[in-house]
Amino acid sequence: MTFKKLDGTDINYFSGILGPEYVLTNQDDLAKNAKDYTEDLCYFPEVVLKPNTTAEVASILTYCNSQNICVTPRGAGTGLSGGSLPIMGGVSLSMERFNNIIEIDERNFQVHVEPGVINEALQNVLKEKELFYPPDPASKGSCFLGGNVAHSSGGPRAVKYGTTRDYVLNLEVVLANGDIIETGANTLKFSTGYNLTQLMIGSEGTLGVVTKMVLKVLPLPKNTLLLFAPFASPEKACEAVSGIFRAGANPSACEFIEPDGFRLAANLLNISFPIAEEIGAYLLIEVDGNDYTAMMQECETISEVLYNHQAIDVLFAETAAQKEYYWKLRRSIGEATKHNNTYKEEDTVVPRAELPELFKGVKEIASRYGFRTVCYGHAGDGNLHVNILKDQLSDDFWNHEINLAIIEIFELCKKLKGTISGEHGIGLVQQKYMPIVMPAHQLQLMKNIKAAFDPKGILNPGKIFN
Ligand code: LAC
Ligand code: ZN
Repeated sequence: MTFKKLDGTDINYFSGILGPEYVLTNQDDLAKNAKDYTEDLCYFPEVVLKPNTTAEVASILTYCNSQNICVTPRGAGTGLSGGSLPIMGGVSLSMERFNNIIEIDERNFQVHVEPGVINEALQNVLKEKELFYPPDPASKGSCFLGGNVAHSSGGPRAVKYGTTRDYVLNLEVVLANGDIIETGANTLKFSTGYNLTQLMIGSEGTLGVVTKMVLKVLPLPKNTLLLFAPFASPEKACEAVSGIFRAGANPSACEFIEPDGFRLAANLLNISFPIAEEIGAYLLIEVDGNDYTAMMQECETISEVLYNHQAIDVLFAETAAQKEYYWKLRRSIGEATKHNNTYKEEDTVVPRAELPELFKGVKEIASRYGFRTVCYGHAGDGNLHVNILKDQLSDDFWNHEINLAIIEIFELCKKLKGTISGEHGIGLVQQKYMPIVMPAHQLQLMKNIKAAFDPKGILNPGKIFN
């Protein structure tokens, strides 16, 4: 697929729509939009455009579609699958000026927001009104809600509350040809033809550009309790996870962390985190609610399960500061790994009770191929982030043989009835593995859908499939 290279006429046209200050062509600005958080990948766009109205986005897309210019939508650039990388040049369409919380509709428990709002900024504003938007990716302090929609981002709370997918009621979307649609209605139910809202969620900017979203919110749970349990055996820690739910508990987070994950995060944050020699894994478990007594009972149920699975200890984080300490460490693992070492992150996910099999299999594959992994993630969802570290491996191994190991890991996911991404998306780096989990005729169906939305293929080309 080839696209038109931009020239002075195009730049002038964009300047006419947006004003020249929002049409960026200098090297520094292009460089800022050439990367996201995926490995060390780097692809320069030819121009960065920063619209701030739906009409401006529509004008840009109408023009680009007519001129055959490719457009890669971009949120905060915190993605882990290369979704926002402009791999074919063209326009990097920055949504950062779409940063308004338009309306908090307390009557209907809904919020109307623009896609450039930072996840945590929304959460903080809602908190003041005792409202709650659960999806909380590790990057919540910087990621945009639009990016969350693009990947159906999750986070620790997904185990109780679901992912972004479960909170989007309606989207305003500009299609590749500049047409504007609303995908649904501002209602809790929708039985009115195909569900374009859900189709758009997770489509990674390949089907349209989201310019407004209507999200469902909940009443804010008043309390949280946090348990922290070290285990000698990581397999036992994995087994405990499904035990917790089978015992009737419903935690608002259930995270698994290998000691190296915390070690790297503590180094990055420059804080002390002593790790005893015998520890093989940790579980970090949160319970939330309004009834303190019931929550304490739930913690007791969970503790019992943990001890039955040979937890060395079960500690309570009592103060807000202690809770923040553990969560900060946990949320920093991804960034700490990236900081420390060249790495590849795999977002494996299986049904919860298969987590021990997945973990064992990943370690077996890693030892057979001779590389180190740091595993952590949303154990309650069966979602294990497998970080593969380059360490002393040769470039040749890293660029070729490692793929065979990743294929084995993903084949294991498939065998366990899971899949190759739970929340990071396919983007650029996982697309070559799609045939592992999908037959050719199913991929073709997806390509046909893409063609129906974007016949010229100008929107985020080369993502999900090529
Ligand atoms: C996390 C990100 C990497 O869970 O998804 O930390
Ligand atoms: Zn995660």
